[in-house]
Amino acid sequence: MKILFAKDYDEMSRKAANIIASQITMKHNSVLGLATGSSPIGTYKELIKKYEQGDLCFDGCYTANLDEYRGLTKDNDQSYAYFMYNNLFKYVNINMDKTNIPDGSNPDAEAECKRYDKVVEDLGGVDIQLLGIGHDGHIGFNEPDDSFPVGTHCVKLTDMTIEANKRFFARKEDVPTEAYTMGIGTIMKAKKILMVASGKDKAEILYKTACGEVKPDVPASILRLHADVTIVADEAALSMIIEKAPELVIGLPKK
Ligand code: F6R
Repeated sequence: MKILFAKDYDEMSRKAANIIASQITMKHNSVLGLATGSSPIGTYKELIKKYEQGDLCFDGCYTANLDEYRGLTKDNDQSYAYFMYNNLFKYVNINMDKTNIPDGSNPDAEAECKRYDKVVEDLGGVDIQLLGIGHDGHIGFNEPDDSFPVGTHCVKLTDMTIEANKRFFARKEDVPTEAYTMGIGTIMKAKKILMVASGKDKAEILYKTACGEVKPDVPASILRLHADVTIVADEAALSMIIEKAPELVIGLPKK
């Protein structure tokens, strides 16, 4: 696991976008595993900039998003499909037919999860998986549990996650209580993994992820068993790692 220092959110976003851009440059038909939430928005903005400057071309790329709220259609402005369209897809030359997100409007959870696993499998797996991290260590919507779920599945969101995500909704009651998410097994099969994290509120969970025990009640801790993981995080999110294990951080400025 490589941990790269960024001084703030903007630097984190630039560094993460550079990694994704080099992946696309080296393999024009890359399968990009994408995430939603606040953490990757800046990364998407930087990728859009590179596209506008003529430095990046998305027309060969395929995408597979991590998750979607169950019960929301893709035109619902709180759906992750809507988020992806409005934060990335509509600004770049991606072919929308090559973009994939679990279908939250499919009420048949079993059928939808099976369908989405097949979508990812038919793409040949993910080349680079972008991740954020929840305060409880969730990746995708894989919440703390007794085991690491393998394939796409339907989850009940924890109160902590509903609480964290209510900022995007008019009222807490409007936050869907279930979601479809790629499993940890699928995430771990990605050839490369890139996590972005920012803010003091992520410092403890990032420390547990990088330095604690690998266990399913900190789902992100399993990333330590993956051969090619890069975490790009800002100084605030890295503060506990910097305090307890500074040797793990690449690019840490000398005091
Ligand atoms: C979103 C996702 C979630 C978020 C996590 C952190 O697709 O998979 O795991 O990455 O909840 O969210 P932010 O970035 O909003 O703190």
